[in-house]
Amino acid sequence: MLLTLRVQGARHWVKSTRCLASSAAPAKSPSSQLEVSGSTYATDGWTNVTPKILSYLGANKHLQTDHPLSIIRQRIVNYFYGAYRNQRGNPLFSVYDQMNPVVTVQQNFDNLLIPADHVSRQKSDCYYINQQHLLRAHTTAHQVELISGGLDNFLVVGEVYRREEIDSTHYPVFHQAAAVGVVTKDELLERNPGPEFFEEMWSGTLPDPKVILPSSKFMDQTKQPCHTLEAVKLMEHEMKHHVLVGLTKDLFGPRIKYRWVDTYFPFTQPSWELEIYFKDNWLEVLGCGIMRHEILQRSGVHQSIGYAFGVGLERLAMVLFDVPDIRLFWSNDSGFLSQFSEKDLHNLPKYKPISHYPQCTNDLSFWLPQDIEVDAGFSPNDFYDLVRSVAGDMVEQISLVDKFKHPKTGRSSVCFRIVYRHMERTLTQAEVNEIHKQIASASVDSFNVQIR
Ligand code: DAH
Repeated sequence: MLLTLRVQGARHWVKSTRCLASSAAPAKSPSSQLEVSGSTYATDGWTNVTPKILSYLGANKHLQTDHPLSIIRQRIVNYFYGAYRNQRGNPLFSVYDQMNPVVTVQQNFDNLLIPADHVSRQKSDCYYINQQHLLRAHTTAHQVELISGGLDNFLVVGEVYRREEIDSTHYPVFHQAAAVGVVTKDELLERNPGPEFFEEMWSGTLPDPKVILPSSKFMDQTKQPCHTLEAVKLMEHEMKHHVLVGLTKDLFGPRIKYRWVDTYFPFTQPSWELEIYFKDNWLEVLGCGIMRHEILQRSGVHQSIGYAFGVGLERLAMVLFDVPDIRLFWSNDSGFLSQFSEKDLHNLPKYKPISHYPQCTNDLSFWLPQDIEVDAGFSPNDFYDLVRSVAGDMVEQISLVDKFKHPKTGRSSVCFRIVYRHMERTLTQAEVNEIHKQIASASVDSFNVQIR
């Protein structure tokens, strides 16, 4: 059976079984204020960003010379600069790669028509600074401000923050490039004369911003009510077969096998994922679609149609350089960094492991407080953040290996398996035991659990 390989890059916007909110204590400053990127924010019950996570702000791995993520960014940008020029011969797309990752809930969600009850807004999935501000969970968060500012073709590249599991393909901070291409009705029809652009019956009025947003079940994935099928198909063809297949072939070579998979994103309709066939697997490389017309209307653009896409840089870099573990992108080890160079962007070397340090595996089991269960008062993501704060990149993987409810007391117990392995040196068992002990005692303090 063919499987689609999932590496961090885009969210899965439809399926999620996780429950809401969690009880774990966030790292709040005693003054109830947080200083982030030179601004001060009042903390509140939503604050869950940790000092460890805040330490990644400004790292800008995507701009660090010779870093593999910077090389991938440069390749994407060069493709857009080279393939798309305006009449004066200047690049059509402008690039924003240093936008502030602190965004509002409005930027990250509301502006993109993400329903009020959508799982991606949960505290257990995002790093909130307070109820109104968070570290952006996708670079799509900047779409509306840039379009409202008058831009029609642009790329936003930067790091994004998500509370995720810990394994070789997930890290709480990773990088995305998100792009938008907006074409006026007249331009599109001049290039392809004949069809109507808007449906005759469509009223064209601005939707009420307070209107309840439709959920995925009610979204027609053929087209939006306002557009004619012809207008959508023309835009779809430009986006898929010129822009995105062009980019994919530029990155993976002209003979790459690919396929389009229908999907759902709240901000595009219809929406697709592009998968490429790589090393016997279908690998999802990007999400894209025709922008919801309400987003354009609310940004002051009425007579145009747009496409948008988002792609994860780590995912591309892991495949193109053969990097086996996402933590390596955060390594300062010269044995890793010296393997990559921006001098020849079209000759990407395969990563050669410096050496393989041994793993140490330790289990940690504890009783949750009375009436608390996994995903009902206790979110594994809270535990993963605690481990990250205590042990940093010494942890390669954590899995929840056992859940058990005591038949008499009704209390729930969980067991996490923690795999320790440093990327740059051998860890001693004594060192691992000490860190493991610190994780256990921090768990007692933060979650009021009882170690078994
Ligand atoms: N923001 C999406 C994610 O992180 C990726 C994405 C999908 C961006 C479709 C887009 C888009 O702009 O049109 O999962």
